[in-house]
Amino acid sequence: MKTSKMKWLWENMKGYHVIYIIAIFGAILYNVLQITIPYVTQHLIDLFLSGKHAAENLATRRDLFFGLILAMVGLTFFRTFIVYLDCMAFEKVSQATLYKIRNYLYDKIQRQDMKFYSTYRTGDLMTRLTGDLDAVRHMIAWVVRSVVESLALASSTMIYFFFMNWKLALCMLIIAPLIFLIIVLFKNNVAPKHRLLREKLAVLNTAAQENISGNRVVKAFAREPYEIEKFNTCNKDYAQTNKETALTWLNYFPFVETLANLMPVVLLAVGGLFLIHDEISMGQYAAFSGLIWAVANPMRNLGNIMNEFQRFNAASAKVMELYYSEPEIVDAPDAIEITGRLQGKIEFRNVSFGYEDSDIPVLHNISFTANPGETIAIMGETGCGKTSLIHLIPRFYEPTEGEILIDDVDIRKYKKHELRKSIGLATQDVLLYSDTIDGNIAYGNASLSLEDVRKYAKYSAADDFISKMPEGYDTIVGERGVGLSGGQKQRISLARALAVKPSILILDDTTSAVDLETEKIIQNELNCLDFACTKLIIAQRISSTRNADKILVLQDGHIIEAGTHEELIARGGYYHDVVMLQTGEEGH
Ligand code: GTP
Ligand code: MG
Repeated sequence: MKTSKMKWLWENMKGYHVIYIIAIFGAILYNVLQITIPYVTQHLIDLFLSGKHAAENLATRRDLFFGLILAMVGLTFFRTFIVYLDCMAFEKVSQATLYKIRNYLYDKIQRQDMKFYSTYRTGDLMTRLTGDLDAVRHMIAWVVRSVVESLALASSTMIYFFFMNWKLALCMLIIAPLIFLIIVLFKNNVAPKHRLLREKLAVLNTAAQENISGNRVVKAFAREPYEIEKFNTCNKDYAQTNKETALTWLNYFPFVETLANLMPVVLLAVGGLFLIHDEISMGQYAAFSGLIWAVANPMRNLGNIMNEFQRFNAASAKVMELYYSEPEIVDAPDAIEITGRLQGKIEFRNVSFGYEDSDIPVLHNISFTANPGETIAIMGETGCGKTSLIHLIPRFYEPTEGEILIDDVDIRKYKKHELRKSIGLATQDVLLYSDTIDGNIAYGNASLSLEDVRKYAKYSAADDFISKMPEGYDTIVGERGVGLSGGQKQRISLARALAVKPSILILDDTTSAVDLETEKIIQNELNCLDFACTKLIIAQRISSTRNADKILVLQDGHIIEAGTHEELIARGGYYHDVVMLQTGEEGH
């Protein structure tokens, strides 16, 4: 970790430092003020109740008597007022900091690479954004405040005790080191438990998230009882760890409680002796007795504080990991702006690629050129690397060797954001947002008019079915597009890719789920788009590849065939066989 947890927290409270420091001083003040009541009581007793001149004082100094009582009432009100303001201040600072960190983390997550998303599970990320962040907020609002309160109360009381009678004060303090020793032992024991607890929570959240979003598969396989059981196990595991963590304190609590309870006994024994020997006055004894809780309670509270501190420790480590995570694929310092539209020339030069988390290379020495406006079709059996190949173009991943050029410039030299904006990508797994169809199509270009949205829907042969829906383009599609057929989703995803008017259009098996008739309409539409673009189309059907300017056939990450429909048929290789298989003739 680059910086310590508390320093990190402090840096994130920027803009609220002054108010936080004032709040801390407020907490000190109202705790110090706690001792004013016993202080005044002590004087009341000594002057008016049990002192040598009590009766005389009561007769002659009535004003002082009432003054002192009024002061007690006034101070109580004043204290309440400060406590109120202080609570507000702590809450305000903690909420503002939480808001800031959460936004920052969300921003971080959004900017991550594909690799990040395959490393972190959604449930874990959600835990960081919710439960973990709440533990961080709790640190600002409660833990720090409790530490300050306990310290202020206990130390001001001890100072007061020392001023009254240092010997008796020392006797009371004798147990303090023992309590601290117990707290240190407790901390060492409970810290790993909090880390474990945090992991279990992430597992629980992941299980819930995956099962709920995968509900259709669960139902299809009638696996509800299994999933319920799986969740139950995670839940039980979490509850068990939670219980163990909470009960840890119980092993230490009796010792701390006994030691804290010894204080009044010491006071009774030693203080009683001192009283008999006139070392202290009755008022002083009352002050000791009335304030003993102010030393004992903070000591009792230490366990609680330590527990919360460890929770913060475990949670903040997770939050900070995300906070300081950086995408690996970043803009070069001298990255160039894309001014105007790209021409759309794509060139692969000896590109090889493998995923970092596996040793098996996926693409080998891929070289091809797509000239502006051309259509390149990519074909090949499942798992041969087609999706991996096209994912290199928007820099979702970096090639391990070779280079990719767009308009004769290495894509690493462009600003990543601008490069991606020039590319319209319809991914193989269609993901639609729970939004209107209109909103989904205009996702990459929010300023699009409904007229334009319809235009792109027409290009992708989606206008017909959308118009027939009860609410047309305002129909809300469910999470991930629930409520639409596979082919309908693909067409909306195609319209979304077209709506950014990209210089490069990449379609990953985008018409695989639509019927041949509709596919044909889409192809015709794609040929007369009102903007120029180079098209890279992954397809299995001959109907999609037939008219391409060039067809690339991939096998195990190698380009084994490249050429036009006719050339490849004439070659009599893989493509020829596919044509034979699909048409039952020589492909004409
Ligand atoms: P289809 O879409 O089924 O036609 O296959 P494809 O040609 O698009 O294959 P793709 O490029 O998705 O995968 C090529 C190879 O890379 C396969 O062997 C996959 O197992 C592997 N692969 C794909 N994605 C990942 C990934 O995120 N991590 C790792 N380690 N391997 C991957
Ligand atoms: Mg694929």
